[in-house]
Amino acid sequence: MDESASAAWDRLAKLPRPRLTELFAEDTGRLDKLSARLDLPGGSILFDWSKTHLDDAVVEVFAQFAETQGFAGRREALFSGAVVNATEGRAAEHTAQRGVGKDTSVEEAQALHARMRSLVEAIHQGALGEVRHLIHIGIGGSALGPALVVDALSRDGAMVDVHVVSNIDGCALEQAFDACDPATTLIAVASKTFTTIETMTNAQSALGWLEENGVGDSFGRVVALTASPEKAVEWGVDETRILPFPESVGGRYSLWSSIGFPVALALGWQEFSEMLEGAAAMDRHFLDTDGAANLPLRAAFADQYYTRVRACQTRAVFAYDERLALLPDYLQQLEMESNGKSVTAEGDPVSAPTAPITWGGVGTDAQHAVFQLLHQGTNLVPVDFIAAIAPGDALDPAHHRILLSNCFAQGAALMAGKESKDGARAYAGDRPSATILLDELNPASFGALIAFHEHRTFANAVLMGINPFDQFGVELGKEIAKQIEKGGERFDASTEALLSLSGITP
Ligand code: F6P
Repeated sequence: MDESASAAWDRLAKLPRPRLTELFAEDTGRLDKLSARLDLPGGSILFDWSKTHLDDAVVEVFAQFAETQGFAGRREALFSGAVVNATEGRAAEHTAQRGVGKDTSVEEAQALHARMRSLVEAIHQGALGEVRHLIHIGIGGSALGPALVVDALSRDGAMVDVHVVSNIDGCALEQAFDACDPATTLIAVASKTFTTIETMTNAQSALGWLEENGVGDSFGRVVALTASPEKAVEWGVDETRILPFPESVGGRYSLWSSIGFPVALALGWQEFSEMLEGAAAMDRHFLDTDGAANLPLRAAFADQYYTRVRACQTRAVFAYDERLALLPDYLQQLEMESNGKSVTAEGDPVSAPTAPITWGGVGTDAQHAVFQLLHQGTNLVPVDFIAAIAPGDALDPAHHRILLSNCFAQGAALMAGKESKDGARAYAGDRPSATILLDELNPASFGALIAFHEHRTFANAVLMGINPFDQFGVELGKEIAKQIEKGGERFDASTEALLSLSGITP
């Protein structure tokens, strides 16, 4: 760690640590200072960090630290299509998919989107016969995004019924088969590399299912979403049904590319493009706003403060919105696969913890399961609450009122705590939370919410000096699984026994 960085961390560690309630009492302008809105077509999003330990002094140290870490230059490099993923020699151009980035990359993205739009609209118009179901097969970044958006935004009905299948466990695919009619089902094979064993095995089984159920030309029902179109052709997909995306779009950032095909098919092109527009609004904010007014950067200040200064090993996200039930899963991949690293961007061992474990759930369910620990446990867990003012349901308004009351009550209770002579009934309080409040959950606010988290993840990586765009940590387990499949290798006694017991090796 260079001297200016260690000086910044020393300063942060030595700053006074007033309780959250004291911070509010000391500064009547606290709420205004620590909350901000992003305006979008169809409503705004409020970000409120006033119930975190960020204050003027902490923010000032972080703002300077971001400068010394070269934040502006790293951000410029990201948006200009420079190689920001040095270990793989790649740019990270997901923002170009939303129209913000290097001109040639934006043009390429628009051309690929036009191709995708034509196919989506042709399918809607019946070019592939009646299509009632789509089985979308992919894993990790090729599945989590589509699953989240379809679940979040198609509750009022979808043009095509989408089932996302990721797990190699055949139970997952069987469940999708049970819900679909083979005669009216399309299969989307989503894989950046088009080599991932789970996806290719599931895709092969899906072809078999179509054939066994009387679909003559099974490949005629397949659409490939990939950055390796040549592999899709080799596997048997007709070129007219291959929707490519650029190599410079990382797997966990690929929702905006052709990996979003099920979103466009289920919701229509208009909603897909509104989602891109919402994300682009957050891109422009992130690109054009300096210092602590930059929302994703400010979120990263809080993240770094809790990880480095308060030694928090986890952070939790609770969506007080059933439609966002899959958001914690999505954020787990985004944050943990990006920033779960032990070396700096230069390849040296890091000198401090990197990404905390992201976990979470849906409110109010989580209150009755895990909030005990948040209020009275010995771990300090910074929490994000995410909610929407407009209800997603048409039932008695009491439902939504109680939902939001509970969300806000939890943040207030975590902060205030409650004294009691009886230790079992005492709440220490001073437990931080941030609240993200959407006017309404719609494609634009959803896009902005996800782009906010992408940029927050990037900003955290800049502050930590690590590369968020590679993921070599996932490779070793894959290699060993391949060795097991192939046979002939010896492993440790425990693994050998497990293999033998389960009948995988004799
Ligand atoms: O195993 C990790 C990973 O490479 C993720 O980064 C990626 O999103 C996922 O696997 C799927 O990869 P692909 O899209 O190439 O099938």
